[in-house]
Amino acid sequence: MLPYFPFGNEFDHRMGTALLRPDETLVEVDEHYPTEIARKRALLTQDHRYYFQARPGTEQAQWDVLERLLTEAATHYPDHFSLTQNGPDWHWQNHLLNEDQHFTFGQPDTLPLAPLDWVGRQVQEDLLILSAEEGAALVAGQLCFPNGWCLDDKFGQTFLGIHKPAPDAVQPTLQAAQKLLERIPTHRPVWRASWNFKITDQLDLSTRYSASYNDDLSQRAPDMAADTIGDQLFIRIERQTFTKLPRSGAILFGIHTYQNLLAHEAFRYDRARRMLNTLRTTPRDMLTYKAIAPFERPLLEFLEQQVANGIGL
Ligand code: HEM
Repeated sequence: MLPYFPFGNEFDHRMGTALLRPDETLVEVDEHYPTEIARKRALLTQDHRYYFQARPGTEQAQWDVLERLLTEAATHYPDHFSLTQNGPDWHWQNHLLNEDQHFTFGQPDTLPLAPLDWVGRQVQEDLLILSAEEGAALVAGQLCFPNGWCLDDKFGQTFLGIHKPAPDAVQPTLQAAQKLLERIPTHRPVWRASWNFKITDQLDLSTRYSASYNDDLSQRAPDMAADTIGDQLFIRIERQTFTKLPRSGAILFGIHTYQNLLAHEAFRYDRARRMLNTLRTTPRDMLTYKAIAPFERPLLEFLEQQVANGIGL
């Protein structure tokens, strides 16, 4: 089952942001940890510049991210990770991968990679840094599992510039979101979850795969039917966190992507009903933007059947 399910009684125009509770964490570890970390590392080896970029001047923010994520990971998952700090001398142990690293905090030559690049290979989340300057431009990132974008597309752009292609219906919300990002308290991150339906469970859906994804979609969509679509679509959820970093003042944007086969979620009456209610009230331009429109009809029919059958009641 998906750990987050951002579907309700209707499409959420407010985008569902909330403060993270003190017991919630920026880093989440699940059963996919070993495969996702291996996949990330392979992508970064194959084409480093495509998946990792950092502007000069972001070093302090990168150390901020490393400190925060290692501390949270060791605190929330003491069986998986440990962190020993002796002044600036740190020792990180990753028991899941049987790896360890000694380094001096703030000294780049004591780590094998840039701090953001190194810490990103310890966690399942994609990690992006937005500048503390006005406009919150994207200034560093390790992005291996994006849904339809890549660093080259958005690097250096402001928060509002990044979101220009999003439908007009959500532009007022994005204006509000920018103000919210400017006001995040340092010790209280904000989070939200976004949703989509995809014809694949491929985690890396960077822009380089957009043309092949769209070709596949136009070939397969005409044959999709209510009785088979449950086994053809994946629900893709992004748990997104936004954290104000203490020294640099920059913002860390973390994305943990979760996915599951539609049939494995929709067999529960409540989940089917919530997806149906959300999809029925989603603005048309949003369904088109999310590339759901080509299979919208069989998807709605399938969910209607699930709800009518009352399975899981
Ligand atoms: C509270 C903060 C945020 C909100 C409410 C928000 C909202 C949205 C919405 C509504 C979309 C349209 C697609 C969808 O609904 O999934 C979107 C797309 C996107 N968002 Fe955000 N977002 C936030 C933060 C960020 C940040 C910090 C980044 C930084 C990189 C970002 C990057 C993107 C990108 C790259 C897209 C795809 C744009 C495209 O089609 O080219 N978002 N976001």
